[in-house]
Order: sequence, then C-alpha cells, then structure tokens
Amino acid sequence: MRRRLRLRRDASLTLLLGTALGLLLYSQRDGGAPTTSAPQARGRVAPRPTLGPRTFQVPEAGAAPPAYEGDTPPPPTPTGPFDFGSYLRAKDQRRFPLLINQPHKCRGDGGPGGRPDLLIAVKSVAADFERRQAVRQTWGAEGRVQGALVRRVFLVGVPRGEGTDGTDTVGAGTRTHWRDLLHAESRAYSDILLWAFDDTFFNLTLKEIHFLAWASAFCPDVRFVFKGDADVFVHVGNLLEFLALRDPGQDLLAGDVIVQARPIRARASKYYIPEGVYGLPAYPAYAGGGGFVVSGTTLRRLVGACAQVELFPIDDVFLGMCLQRLRLTPEPHPAFRTFGISQPSAAPHLRTFDPCFYRELVVVHGLSAADIWLMWRLLHGPHGPACAHPQPVAAGPFQWDS
Ligand SMILES: *[C@@H]1O[C@H](CO)[C@@H](O)[C@H](O)[C@H]1NC(C)=O
Repeated sequence: MRRRLRLRRDASLTLLLGTALGLLLYSQRDGGAPTTSAPQARGRVAPRPTLGPRTFQVPEAGAAPPAYEGDTPPPPTPTGPFDFGSYLRAKDQRRFPLLINQPHKCRGDGGPGGRPDLLIAVKSVAADFERRQAVRQTWGAEGRVQGALVRRVFLVGVPRGEGTDGTDTVGAGTRTHWRDLLHAESRAYSDILLWAFDDTFFNLTLKEIHFLAWASAFCPDVRFVFKGDADVFVHVGNLLEFLALRDPGQDLLAGDVIVQARPIRARASKYYIPEGVYGLPAYPAYAGGGGFVVSGTTLRRLVGACAQVELFPIDDVFLGMCLQRLRLTPEPHPAFRTFGISQPSAAPHLRTFDPCFYRELVVVHGLSAADIWLMWRLLHGPHGPACAHPQPVAAGPFQWDS
C-alpha cells in the first residue's frame, strides 16, 4: 500500500487526480453538487449517474483526458525499467499450458446447478493465500445468491524465479512449496487455475487471454462473468441486481470505464509506454482492471478479437483494444470503483469500514484480506449494515434499502 502511494507520488499529475477524485467523492457523499474545481477528474468521474435510475451516461467527450491511473495490486510489481525489446520479441508466444485445471467448474456433474449464472474470476498470485481465503469466505462464496448460481476461480501464474517444478530456487531455508499449496487448494476448493507463465505485472495480459480461452472452452454457457483483482470487495447482490435486467445473449462489458487516457511517456513511470509500442495519443476506452462484468456472449467474442490484437503490456488497456476491434465500447457503471478509497486526508469519512458506503457499490478496490472479511461481516451481520447515515450516500442506480 505504502509502496503504491510512493509510486503515485512520483507522478504529481496522478496525485492531483487522486485528490480531485477524493474531493469529488467527498462532496457527492454529502449530497452536494460535484465540485467544479476538479477538472482533471472529470473524464474518469463522468460516468457517475446524473440521469434517472438504471440509465447510463456516456462520459463527456470534451473532458480532460486522465492519465492512466494504475491501481493494480501488489503481485505484479515490476522491478526496474521494463524491457520492451524482449517483450516485443517474446510476444508471439501467447500460449502456455494449463498446469491446474477445473474442468468441471461449470458442469453440474450430478450435483445441483449446472450452468452458472455468474462466474467470478479473481486474479491472484500463489503467495496471496490469505486474500483467496478471505474472498472464498465472503463475496466470492459459491452457491446460490439471490437465486443465481455463482461459481468462482482464481487465476494464477508461476511465481517468478521459481521453476515449474514447484520448488523455490531462491533459498533452501525459505522454500515456499507454492505448488503444493496450489494443488492442495485445488483439491480443497476446486477453484485454482494455474498457467505456466511467469506471474508478473506485464504478463497480466497473458492471464487475460488465457482466462478468456479457458472460460469459453470450459464454461461455454455461463451467463455473466465478473473478473477482478483479489483486493476488491464486490457486492455480489448489487451486481446480480444489475445483471438481472441484462440479456446474456447481448453484448455487455461494464465497469469503471476510463476514456481518452493518454499513454504515459515518462520513462520513470511504471506505466511508461514508448511511442514505438503505442503511437496514438490516447488509449481506447477501457474498464479499469479492478473489476468488470462481461456477458457470456461478449466473452466468447473477445476470445477471437483478442487473438487478432498484438499483446500489449497493460492488461486492461489490451482488453479495451479487443473491444475496439469488436466496435464495442465498455459501459461505464457508477458503482464500480476500481480505485482505492482509503486516502484519509482527501476524504476523512470515506473510510474503508463504513458499511453504508459499501452497500450501494459493486466493486471497491485496494483492500487487505482483513478489510474484505470485516466489510462482509458488517454488511451481512445479523443486524444488517448499521448505518450512521440513514439517507443514501449518492443518487444512483444502486440504492437498496435494507
Ligand atoms: C511472461 O512469462 C514468460 C513465460 O514464463 C516469461 O518468459 C516472460 O519473461 C514473462 N514476461 C514478462 C514481461 O514478465
């Protein structure tokens, strides 16, 4: 967390944007009008609803383009400058074996269920056992939720520096036996998908295309898929409520949509992209990687579209490129917050542990395993959310009164 904040500080623009967003949230939380002194935040915040319930607003075309604001969690922290040369040389290799599969995930196999209504796919890394446990026990629990059948998988690659034989080559004293762990988890929970590529930040695009291919092969009839990071809290009830009105046979990809983001040309940035790799001034619209939902139809179409797009090292932008190929634009959804909300100075009462804040969101990003678990307990405790603020926090499609 601290490291991420430090990274942010590097780019003062990003910090400015974050502060502006925080202030904007703060003002909206109190029911006030969005502050006009935050022009930088408009592109990203524009998706917030000002229309009637369950309508969606297209971001303003003239809005100031936000810089790419990555808020991707720890696993994929690149060390040192990114080697574009070797990335470009290696990027034709885009198929890696599946080392742990869950071939029955979407089949009933005699048991109840069968085709899931919602498949939850969570990007994880081998070492992050605790977050996986938190997700399993909370929002990612399998079974029936509001009548919908929910299934879950974790998407994992091979930890860097550790061979696919499963032994840690770094130090004999600290052998992690990550592979034993993943196999044991797979036996216990049947929710691990492990591929044979290095689990690094810039390989998240590989994770994306391998998951898309897996889902269309092993989960061909799934109605909707939520894909997100392991550090998010997802309000599955709100998500299902939104999906109940949608047709899985139609195209849909909804999330925290970022429009007109400019590639970062500063070499020192984690997200530095040379002009030779991406020459256009702005990325296509894309959904921030913290979490998005996609219909079964769009998922299957994306498999083919992404196969024709050259690998690009930022996974959510890459998916935006695949969508563009399909001439689809992602749908901005106001309740997907793929940025963190725990910056106390910017918004003192947007605290992580305010259940009233959570109850109308779909996705919140940047949480520890303990945060996730505690939020779940607060929202699903015997007394329901104990709200200090009885009135809805913000006007939007996701007010539910408990
Ligand atoms: C991606 O994974 C492959 C296969 O493990 C590895 O050779 C490559 O270095 C990784 N790429 C990045 C950018 O980490």
